[in-house]
Amino acid sequence: MKELRSIVLAAGKGTRMKSQLAKVLHPVCGRPMVQYVIDVVKGAGSLKNYVVLSHQFEAVKQILGENEIPVKQEQLLGTADAVRSVESFLKGYADDLLVVCGDTPLLTVETVKALVKKHQQTGASCTILTAVLSNSTGYGRIIRGMDGRSIAIREEKDASADEKKIMEINVGVYCFKAASLFKALPGIKKNRLKKEFYLTDVIEIMAERKWKIETLETSDPQEGWGINSKVDLASAEKVMQLKILTKFMRDGITIIDPGTTYIDANVKIGADTVIKPFTVIESDVRIGRNCVIGPFARLRPKTVILNNTEIGNFTEISRTKIGNNVFMKHFSFLGDAVVGDQANIGAGTVTANFDGKNKHQTKIGKQAFIGSDSVIVAPATIGKGAVVGAGCVVAKEKIVPDGHVMVGVPGRVIGKRKQ
Ligand code: UD1
Ligand code: CA
Repeated sequence: MKELRSIVLAAGKGTRMKSQLAKVLHPVCGRPMVQYVIDVVKGAGSLKNYVVLSHQFEAVKQILGENEIPVKQEQLLGTADAVRSVESFLKGYADDLLVVCGDTPLLTVETVKALVKKHQQTGASCTILTAVLSNSTGYGRIIRGMDGRSIAIREEKDASADEKKIMEINVGVYCFKAASLFKALPGIKKNRLKKEFYLTDVIEIMAERKWKIETLETSDPQEGWGINSKVDLASAEKVMQLKILTKFMRDGITIIDPGTTYIDANVKIGADTVIKPFTVIESDVRIGRNCVIGPFARLRPKTVILNNTEIGNFTEISRTKIGNNVFMKHFSFLGDAVVGDQANIGAGTVTANFDGKNKHQTKIGKQAFIGSDSVIVAPATIGKGAVVGAGCVVAKEKIVPDGHVMVGVPGRVIGKRKQ
């Protein structure tokens, strides 16, 4: 069995994004796009992943895992130069090497596995992933010889009018025999127009040397999309969103209207939970079984909701743990709170969790009843089975003892605001 490693190209500035943020850090469904790509190469069996970085080196490095080795590309001289910057890390490595662009978040593990399989079965020097798109503008086109074999990849800027009509494109995902790649790489010359070294030129070099080149076409063309602009980003977001929602529906979650429901990557939801329209669920949210969420609910990161709980319209919940059988049915905000089982959060309840500098916790005990329009100024504790009357302001650091009732508003001047 051959070993598999990968190079993820993620150093580009992403000029066409017109953004301060490095392109590969732009989120798709709440997750930086390069993370999807790294997950895919790992899923396909790559054991060591060299991630080529430059722009916002430290920020991208932060999101890398244990098996990812950040490699700095000193000057952005093109995709071939990016690969060359990893060469010294691969001394003596002669097995298979995936090279993947960091801006293809829709790529799937199955496809890359199939690419590696074909590469190994055919014994090719390079196997290129291709896609046939209805609009191939901007991509490198796959140029085939009379025998139908791929002999070159032509970039948009260098393509003739006839070549531009080719709909089969280079996805930017290749499986190489590492030794062949590094033997052919020095043959790449600087592109005249863009003054960059194009990795895609390696194909022509290999073809001239009569080395075997294979291609694999994606069954789903969308997988091949490269994200270069905010327009591309929005298109990828839509596709990824539908994939996420479809998976939830297959797992037994009811989504009344997928068109108005937004769920990020890395969310867990139990079966028989119903998500009503216009609901936004951000990453790192966990929801149990048999809950009802929405319509018009926003669950922000690190919210955990156990089973049989109802979260209704115009509610926002952030960094909060909510127990079983809780009702929070109308326009309320909970932030940094812990809510026990069977508690009732009345309409208009607000945890005032931020004092202008720090966030503070609110504890609401089991079976507590929070009356409508209450403000709980954190930190505060509402005991087990306690009641907070409608319109009450629970002042900072107050404790409502278990089973007790608190009412009233402490609306009095307590001194000057501290700057
Ligand atoms: C590239 C391919 C093109 C293919 C398309 C697929 C080349 C020359 N062209 O074009 O054939 O159809 O992807 O989406 O490879 N990068 C670096 N260092 C650099 C330059 C780029 O790491 O010096 C990284 C970028 O961060 C990006 C990836 O390489 O993740 C591709 O670069 P990009 O500029 O997006 O290439 P395309 O023009 O899209
Ligand atoms: Ca690209």
